Order: sequence, then structure tokens, then C-alpha cells
Amino acid sequence: MTVGVRTPLVLADAHGRVATDLRVSLTDRCNLRCTYCMPADGLEWFPTEEVLTDDEVLRVLRVAVEQLGVTKVRFTGGEPLLRRSLERIVAGTKRLRTRTGGTPELSLTTNGIGLDKRVHALAEAGLDRVNVSLDSLDRDRYAALARRDRLDAVLAGLAAAEAAGLLPVKVNSVVMRGVNEPDVVPLAQFCLERGYQLRYIEQMPLGPRHEWDRSKMVTQAELLALLGQRYRLAPASEQRGSAPAELWRVAADDTQPGGLIGVIPSVTAPFCGACDRTRITADGQIRTCLFSRTETDLRTPLRAGASEEELAQVWAGAQSRKAPSHGIGEPGFEQPARTMSAIGG
Ligand code: 5AD
Ligand code: SF4
Repeated sequence: MTVGVRTPLVLADAHGRVATDLRVSLTDRCNLRCTYCMPADGLEWFPTEEVLTDDEVLRVLRVAVEQLGVTKVRFTGGEPLLRRSLERIVAGTKRLRTRTGGTPELSLTTNGIGLDKRVHALAEAGLDRVNVSLDSLDRDRYAALARRDRLDAVLAGLAAAEAAGLLPVKVNSVVMRGVNEPDVVPLAQFCLERGYQLRYIEQMPLGPRHEWDRSKMVTQAELLALLGQRYRLAPASEQRGSAPAELWRVAADDTQPGGLIGVIPSVTAPFCGACDRTRITADGQIRTCLFSRTETDLRTPLRAGASEEELAQVWAGAQSRKAPSHGIGEPGFEQPARTMSAIGG
């Protein structure tokens, strides 16, 4: 037996998965009210004292990257740009070293509003990539879906991300039946023309309670049928791996360059078996899955002065109890109490 050599801790679970990708939510607040994510009103924000401070977030990130083998960090919200110190948090995270001595890969999921004014500072701070949510290019439909008339601000944010070299720019779209199906092809065209990578996400039951209805969800099969009316699609040779998007290659023609379009079929073809994620909410709770019914409190030990090794143990313990799959559609499935805005995408 070798004495004194400890096997490094990892975020392993009982189903053979190891998490290396951390989603950190920096606020539960948002300046939009997308119907699939939040109620129109009446959602209470977390009290300020419950939200992790910048130094607490950075301590949590140090534990994840330096003690637990996390190599990718994605900042989410609510809307992470509403966190005024985002640049400072990004810069602090970029200074961490992964266990192999590299820098963590940093990305941001944002609705794009205000990104134009901050993207250069964010890139300078070490941000590598952005995913911008955009569900319609039609001003009225955008305003109906996001319950705010902000399409122009989002488009400005996207253009600025491209100009700042955060490539490839990724765009996330949720398609809802009877709402934005007419946007499927225009969104694809917009992204192909600019070299953005578009991902359609099947709508998940993470919005206002009891509003999700599987029969109303636009499935991957329907999305591909809609796209197939306009484009020639072939499965891309790129592997799906632990990345959730199934990628399709669009052949170039006279009207647009070719490119890749992804579909994230979270409901009709779950990728739980390959999931490499762990999450921390803005109020310091570890969630091992979007659909977790239980959380593990990291904030209390953090504020009680636990060492980084102790915090790592708490996290590793939480991850070891990660459920094998989200169970959407199975008997007994229940939507989590938090909406997406309070979990982090
Ligand atoms: N289903 C699918 N995707 C969702 N998002 C927010 N709520 C849902 C939902 N109920 C997406 C947003 C954003 C990302 C963080 O998650 O559009 O792109
Ligand atoms: Fe805000 Fe994103 Fe939720 Fe829309 S999906 S309300 S942009 S947090």
C-alpha cells in the first residue's frame, strides 16, 4: 500500500458518470420573462443575503476546479449580465488552474441584452464563448414570448459577441407550438448566414407549474421535418459525446452557406447517461441535475468556515447520489419547485 498518496476526489456518481462541467448561476433575476421559464409576475427574488457574494462564488469555483476536477465553467442566471461584477468573477475564475495545469474553459449563457456593452471586457477577462437565447426574429413574436420588446438589444449583443471574437457564437432557441414555429427556418437562415451555431432545445417542464404539456412540445422529429422543407440535412460526423446537441450538417446552396444546426432532444431522447454536469444555484445549493428534487446546501458550511477540502467532500457526496435520469414522462415525475430562472440553464 502506498502511504500518503490520496486518490484525487472527483465528482463521480453511482451510474458511472464523472462531472467535469459546472453550471454556476449568478442571479435568479432576469430582465425578460420568457413564458417557458418564468411566470409573468409574482416570482419572488432570493433575498440578497442568501445570494453568494463574489468572493463566495470564487471560493466555490476554486473548490470545483482545483479540488474536484471541473474543467468547464458556464455562468448562467436568471440573466448573468445582471450581476454587475461578472467581469471580476470571470477574471477570478480564469486565474484558477485545473488539475492538469490548464485554465478552465469559460462560457456564458445569456439573453444577450446589454452584452454589446460588456463583451469586450468579458473577453479580456477570459471568457471563451457565449450562448445567446433567441427564440424569434419577429419583433412581435419575440415580445410575446419574452414578454418584453427587446429583440433589437439581443441582436446588438449577438453582433458584438461575434465582433469580440467569441467564436463560434451559439444561439439557443426553444420552439413552442402555436407560438414561434414560423421562426424555425428564419432562425436557421439567420445563423447559417452569420456562421452562428444554432441549437433548438425541446421545451422542458421547468417553467411556471402545470403549464408544460408534452403534447404541445415541438419535438426533435418535428423540428427536423420543418427544417427539411427548406434544407438538405445530414447527420454530422461530429460525435455527440457528453454534449447534448445532436448535430446536423446543412448543405450549402445558392442562398446560404452550409453549417451545423443542433437539436437538444432533452425530452424525446434524453442524454442523461452521458451527463457530465453539476450545478450550483445563486443561493449556494448544489443541484446535480436540472430536475433534482433535492439539493445539497453548500452555503451553510461555506459561511461556517469549512475548509476547501471539507466543501469538496460535501460536493462529492452530493454528486454520488445523483439520480440516473430526469424521469420526464415516467410515472411519479414531478417538476422541480424552482423554475429554470432560479436553477440556471
Ligand atoms: N425548456 C427548455 N429550455 C429552456 N430554457 C429556459 N427554460 C427552458 C425550458 N423550460 C433555455 C433558455 C436558455 C437556456 C438557459 O435554457 O432558452 O437558452
Ligand atoms: Fe430570462 Fe433566460 Fe428565463 Fe428568458 S429563459 S426569462 S432570458 S432566465
